[in-house]
Parts: sequence; structure tokens; C-alpha cells
Amino acid sequence: MEVLTTQQPLAKIVADLLILPLFQGGRPPAEVDGALGGGLSRAVEAGDFAGEFGQTLIYYTEGRIGARRVMLLGLGAESRIDRARLRRAFGIGARASRQKGGTVACALPAVPGLPASETARFAVEGLLHSFHPLRTLKTDQQARPPVERILVSGGAEVEPGARLGQILAEAANLARDLAWLPGNRLTASDLAEKAREICREAGLDIEVYDREGCRKLGLGLLLAVNQGSREEPRFIVMRYRGAGGKGPWLGLVGKGITFDSGGISIKPTENMWDMKYDMSGAAAVLGAMQAISRLKPACDVMGIIPATDNMPDGGAYKPGDVISGLSGKTVEIRSTDAEGRLVLADGLAYAVSKGCSRLITVSTLTGAVRIALGPVRFAMVSNDDRWEELVFQAAEEAGEKGWRLPHDQEYYDLFKSPIADMANTGQPRTAGTIVGGLFLMSHVGDTPCVHLDIAAQAYQTSDDAYQQAGPTGVAVRTMVQAALRFAEGRR
Ligand code: BES
Ligand code: MN
Ligand code: ZN
Repeated sequence: MEVLTTQQPLAKIVADLLILPLFQGGRPPAEVDGALGGGLSRAVEAGDFAGEFGQTLIYYTEGRIGARRVMLLGLGAESRIDRARLRRAFGIGARASRQKGGTVACALPAVPGLPASETARFAVEGLLHSFHPLRTLKTDQQARPPVERILVSGGAEVEPGARLGQILAEAANLARDLAWLPGNRLTASDLAEKAREICREAGLDIEVYDREGCRKLGLGLLLAVNQGSREEPRFIVMRYRGAGGKGPWLGLVGKGITFDSGGISIKPTENMWDMKYDMSGAAAVLGAMQAISRLKPACDVMGIIPATDNMPDGGAYKPGDVISGLSGKTVEIRSTDAEGRLVLADGLAYAVSKGCSRLITVSTLTGAVRIALGPVRFAMVSNDDRWEELVFQAAEEAGEKGWRLPHDQEYYDLFKSPIADMANTGQPRTAGTIVGGLFLMSHVGDTPCVHLDIAAQAYQTSDDAYQQAGPTGVAVRTMVQAALRFAEGRR
């Protein structure tokens, strides 16, 4: 999809659809309304459109302006608007339009406190998010032709924002497409192939290690999780060299469990199929690396993905086993279903050994995070308040929502083991999300690390006005924004 800006008067823009965003109580732009003989304001006066958040009204223009259809799009109360709501409103407009192919133009609202370029960014993000179709594997599918062009009304000042919005939305959509694929269509080796393709196009360096390669590296925890599988694991390392490749590196580590059955600690039947999206963290890292390669910040970034499925088998790893991985720490397995933290611990230890000075790790790590925060905010757990606050602010800037959970020393006592350095779980129903995060922190030494637990946000279970059921692409934008800050020397 092409994204362009235009300085033409709104009534002159030639498009299949022109979206006019309005705050509650706002009036349609006079130049368009006038050309339409006052039809839009009559609709408002009649009470058909009040600008409530997500409200839409479609009006056929019958050739009186350049656009074939106009949509009034409600932004809700001006006092309540923020980046996330702005993106969401434009996404709702895109989805409600049911636009097939062609050109969609939009006006930008004046948002108090937000530069026009930022407004363009979130508008474009919302449009591209919701126009993006998740491709089904139905044999009789009649794919709707994709929208070809987005025209953003505004001068040269909105261009950088429109471009940034496009790059971020395309990266998030890439992550969504990957997380959408079922476990049999995206194995660890398939994921590695996709990573190779993305890196080839993006000009990124990539190394992929197979089972033997993982053994040589000493990735004992990844290999333990893989032990019950017929599929080989893959350990994927991507490098973006924006500062010469000498480091210090920002490390992004994503959980790449292509299907999580729970292993010997097998999950109940109900909703087990959901566990195809247990590689959403890996998908987010791939999306972020793609966006970073296009934005070219002046810093070095390493993207790391430990990938395998988690399956039960006669040879599978078992509760009670004691395993050590790259960090050298010994881990007593209490549940083979707490596998994400194991593969991530190896990924993090590798990142530290290769010179990463700041780390972000992203994963669908715990069901407990849904109990704690619901689907609204993802959880953050860290070993370093400063770095964590910086990543939190990066999320806010990117219009994503995280929340910091505590990391008091006492929480580390919740996953002690009598036989090993630590256990891989604590007591059930006891600070599960924090325990998962601090387990990860136990494998990075002193390197500042922030863990994002996106288990409740990565996948939407039902359709809503913004998007169809499926992967959301969450955390891509937060990581990219953090990389931009890292490049500015804020670490
Ligand atoms: N992949 C799951 C977490 C998950 C649950 C993601 C629901 C998305 C939706 C993870 O590997 C897992 O099984 N975690 C366990 C941890 C427990 C054994 C300590 C959980 O949350 O039950
Ligand atoms: Mn699990
Ligand atoms: Zn899992």
C-alpha cells in the first residue's frame, strides 16, 4: 500500500473515500459541507452523527466533490483523545468503510498537544492496521481487493509522521501475519526461513543455528524444551549495524514457541489451539527489526529468537529434571509448561555474551498477566528502574500501554529450589507474572533488562470494531521507539 500526503483542498481530493474525523460536537469542514449543499451538517443537526468515539456516517457525494464517498468519523471528547485512541478511531473508520481497493483519503484533526506530524503517524497506523487482511486458509475465500493508496491531507510537515506510521504499521502487520499461522504451517525452521527472507529484504545480517549448532553454543535450556519434539529447534540472531557494529548493542529477545502443548505438564484441551500464537514475541522482534532497518537509527541492535515447539514425548524433558543453559545457572523443572522462560533465558544469556548493554525481552509468558491487567496493558518486569522507566515512556510515546510490576528482592524467594539455583515456577496463583519475569532477570547478570509479558494482548479472541479476531502486533512499536531513544544516547 502506498501512503502519500496531499495539499489539495479537501473537496478537490480524488478518492474512493474521504474520511473526515470530528470530535464530539465538531462541525464538518465548511468547504466539503458547502460543496455537498450542507448535507453533512444536516445529518449532524438531525442527530445522525454526534462525533462519539468510533461513530461513523457514510455519505455518497454523487460527483459534487472529488471523493466518491465521505465518512464522518467520531473521535469522542477532545479532552479524552490520546495516541492510542487516535489510532483506534482511524482503524475503526477503515474497518467500518468496508472499502474495496482504490484510494482512501483522510483529513487530520487538530489534536491539542500533539504535533500534526504525530497525528498523521497515528492516523496512518490505524488505517493500515485495520485495512490489513489476515489471510485465511479457506478454500473458497473471496479476498477483498486491498486498498491501494492512502492520501493524508497536510503539508510537508506531516510527511515524516506519515512515513513513520507506515513503517510501524507494516512492521506490526508482518508480526500479525506470522503469529496468525498455525503450528503446522510455521515450525521453528519455517520461522527461521521467514526471518531469512525478511533480513534479505531489509539488508540485515542473520545467523541461524540448528539443533547441532545450539548444542555447540551451549543452549541447554532451549534444547531441553525441544527434546520432546520431532521438529528441530532454531536459534535466530539478526544484526542491524547502525553505529558500525561495535556495540554497545540493544538486544531484543522474543519467545518463539511455535506451539505450546505444555509438554509433559500438558495443558487442558480447552483453548489449547490458542497456543499457536506462543511465538508472538518472536514475531514482534522480527517486525521491530524490519522497522529499525527502514528507520536507520544510529545504534546497533541485535534481534534474537529461540524457536521450538513444546511437545510431550517419551524423550521429553520432565518435571524434576535439573538443566543448565548458557548462563550456567542450574534450573529445576517444576512444570514443563513454563517453557518460555527457559528458551528466553538462553536467548538473554547469549545477548549478554555478545555485548548487549540493554535488553528488552517480549513474550506471551504467563496466563496470570490476564488476571493482573486484563487485555488493556501488558506487564513489565525488570531489574533496573531507569531502563524500565525509559521503555515505559517509549511505549507511551508509541501509543502502546504497559504497566510496571514490582521487582523487590523478596520475590526472588518465590522460585527457590532445594536442589538447583532456581526452579522454573513458584507456587500456583502467587505473583505468577512477576516470578516469570524475575526468572529471566536471573540469567542476565547486571545487564539492565526489561521483560514485556504480552500474553493477554498479543491475540484478540473475538472481532471488534477495530480488528478481526487474531494477532494484534503489540510490542513492535514499543521496541522500535525504545531503539530510537537508545540511538539518541538515552539508555
Ligand atoms: N504460553 C503460556 C502462557 C500463555 C497462557 C500465553 C495463555 C497466552 C495465553 C506459557 O508457556 C505457560 O504455559 N505459562 C504457564 C506458567 C505456569 C506453568 C507457571 C501458565 O501461565 O499457566
Ligand atoms: Mn507453557
Ligand atoms: Zn508458552
